[in-house]
Amino acid sequence: MSWNARALRRAFLEFFQEKGHRLLPSDSLVPKDPSLLFTSAGMVQFKPYFLGAAQPPAPRVTTVQKCLRTTDIDAVGDLSHLTFFEMLGNFSFGDYFKREAILWAWEFLTERLQVDPSRLQFTVFEEDDEAFDIWHREVGIEANRIWRLGEKTNFWPANAISEGPNGPCGPCSEIFYDTRIDTGCQNPACGPACDCGRWLEIWNLVFMQYERTEENGKPKLIPLPKKNIDTGMGLERTAAVLMELESPYETDVFLPILRRIETLAGVRYKGQADEKSDAAIRLIADHIRAATFSIADGVIPQNEGRGYVLRRLIRRAITRGLRILHLEKPFLADLVPAVVEALGDQYPEIVQRQSYIETTLRFEEERFRQTLQAGLTRLEEMLQSLPPNAVLPGDRAFTLYDTYGFPLELTREMAAERGI
Ligand code: GLY
Repeated sequence: MSWNARALRRAFLEFFQEKGHRLLPSDSLVPKDPSLLFTSAGMVQFKPYFLGAAQPPAPRVTTVQKCLRTTDIDAVGDLSHLTFFEMLGNFSFGDYFKREAILWAWEFLTERLQVDPSRLQFTVFEEDDEAFDIWHREVGIEANRIWRLGEKTNFWPANAISEGPNGPCGPCSEIFYDTRIDTGCQNPACGPACDCGRWLEIWNLVFMQYERTEENGKPKLIPLPKKNIDTGMGLERTAAVLMELESPYETDVFLPILRRIETLAGVRYKGQADEKSDAAIRLIADHIRAATFSIADGVIPQNEGRGYVLRRLIRRAITRGLRILHLEKPFLADLVPAVVEALGDQYPEIVQRQSYIETTLRFEEERFRQTLQAGLTRLEEMLQSLPPNAVLPGDRAFTLYDTYGFPLELTREMAAERGI
């Protein structure tokens, strides 16, 4: 079978419906949970069910959830990190637990998707003998392909025991795909815990069984009324694996956007020996998806809160477009039809609000370009007054940011170009 992201989305949701799950819609990117700026995982809309504070519509559900995470924003432009992505998930509210979650993940990957089992490796929380035994004894995975790791990687949320946040949490088991890319890693124990870039996390199975609270300032894990399952599979990454592509950017949920950027900029992705321009294309493609979906869900560019996250995404995309791809005229609104082409069949809100999204982006981009021009002139004067190898004083960089809204990363880049 030849895969693409659309087919993977459909296959996942069908598989879990066959296993008795009710299909529920994606929640908004703006969550009801006031402790979060954006919906960052499939489980966010289900927190009250895990805590036993509300009755779920069904004991098993499955979703594809639009998510926005900016924790890795500085890595975006590389081959795997995204801010906006779709997360496929299956959830159990006090119904099935570890055994079914693991056996079904294995069945879906190796039988439905036909992923080569020899390319998969697994992690479990260091104390979780039960999950280890299910992978080892029931699935038949050799012990040296199951890694026991600590709460940083194998607890959800990461480090929740020692650092919080309070709320539902639990140990998790992650599934990694061996890209077999030779990263030059010399680590003889190279495995999913190694950050050399060879191992791609594709699915996280969370065994949501505790509520974290604090007592006298000390963390405390209280068993939840019922044991639950929360899983998250990255749609774009897994589609790239199935399609044997170098990155998610070449899958069908990105390709129209990539092509449109190429046309506007007059360059070819991977068409020249210029990695900087490919990275800029990837960053813009990521950020325009994030901006389009945020605006569709009611976020407007502002100087604080979620509006600031949106503004930052927009400004980063414009700056990269201008400086690396020489996109001298506003271009973001012109990318929205391509986002709609890639994702409008699944998310009708971006089709319905397309012209509003374009207007919002056009207005923001025109305003920012004026600011940018004023800041560029001012920065130019500052840099010219300094000898090479000098240091641009921090208060000047701050004035540029504070008075002109000029991004610090751009100040850094332009100064570095002159050895300052
Ligand atoms: N909630 C599981 C995950 O986002 O990985």
